[in-house]
Amino acid sequence: MLLNVVKSTVLVALASCIMNANDFNVQAEKDRIALIDYTIAKFEDGDKNRDKFFPYSTDDELKNNIQKNVKYEDLRKGNYAFNKQGQYSYNEINEMPPYDELVEKGEELYEDNKALQKCFPDVTVAGDYPYFDEEKKEVVSLTGAINKCLTDAGQKAWNEKKGKMAFFQSYIASETKDAEKKVNIQINSAEAAAAYERGKEFYYTQRGYLKLSCATCHVQGAGKRVRNESLSQLAGHTTHFPVFRLKWGKDKVENGLGTLERRMAGCVKDQGQVPPKTNSKEMKELLYFMAYMSNGMNVDGPDVRK
Ligand code: HEC
Repeated sequence: MLLNVVKSTVLVALASCIMNANDFNVQAEKDRIALIDYTIAKFEDGDKNRDKFFPYSTDDELKNNIQKNVKYEDLRKGNYAFNKQGQYSYNEINEMPPYDELVEKGEELYEDNKALQKCFPDVTVAGDYPYFDEEKKEVVSLTGAINKCLTDAGQKAWNEKKGKMAFFQSYIASETKDAEKKVNIQINSAEAAAAYERGKEFYYTQRGYLKLSCATCHVQGAGKRVRNESLSQLAGHTTHFPVFRLKWGKDKVENGLGTLERRMAGCVKDQGQVPPKTNSKEMKELLYFMAYMSNGMNVDGPDVRK
């Protein structure tokens, strides 16, 4: 009997040695590297490689607007990584970022709230979310973790898209950036890998009467134009949130800052589709997949977008 117990313990220990935690991200790592290679190849020389990547883009666009040799480190800048027209105003706005005072508001929210201080003793954690909770077997987003922290302490949950939630997240992002930390998404179990796969499936599934998937625009479509917008690449999409959008902040600066969930919901609505609810399993697994595609990149939030 005792021998059996010892044997099975040894077996379990052995099995967990063989199934090293790192093994569960093998597929995700393959996906990530393939995406980076594709993106770098695409933006190496758009004009030269037009048959392969940009068959429908105009001469003017390829010769004058799409930058060559876009670097891996720049992918986090969204379409400003390659879109020459946009880069000028992007750099100009970032000299006096309109979000600075909102980051300060975020810091004040933290200083005034014991519950937040207890839940987030270290605020340089923007790159660690979303993560897979191995006990609850579910993805935890930063937005979800903040609201859980508040409601567990008997406080009211915050709006998930803007206002205090965005201010506090911008403080977390900016501290993480100052600490020079990177996106660090872990996949340490079969369940976590399955959640990643579901997120990926959502990203690549065609929906709506136009049969568009996120990938149609942000993988195959990256670098092309939709109306007057240059489509940004998936690699780097989650590195810089919350984002200050000039469009959102037009009337009131406070409204300018929004979470990643706000941005995505808007993007999905623009395609005439209904976005997954902010704190739903679908949304969180989608974020988990997207964040993994930015693994290893510098955290760069908050940032500015049109
Ligand atoms: C019809 C094309 C289209 C589809 C399909 C689409 N988007 Fe977008 N998306 C855009 C455009 C246009 C923008 C604004 C320009 C840009 O940054 O790409 C944008 C912006 C974004 C951004 C902000 C990028 C940044 O740098 O801040 C995110 C994140 C995003 N989309 C996610 C998604 C997700 C997730 C899906 C699928 C659920 C999706 N998009 C589907 C066109 C699309």
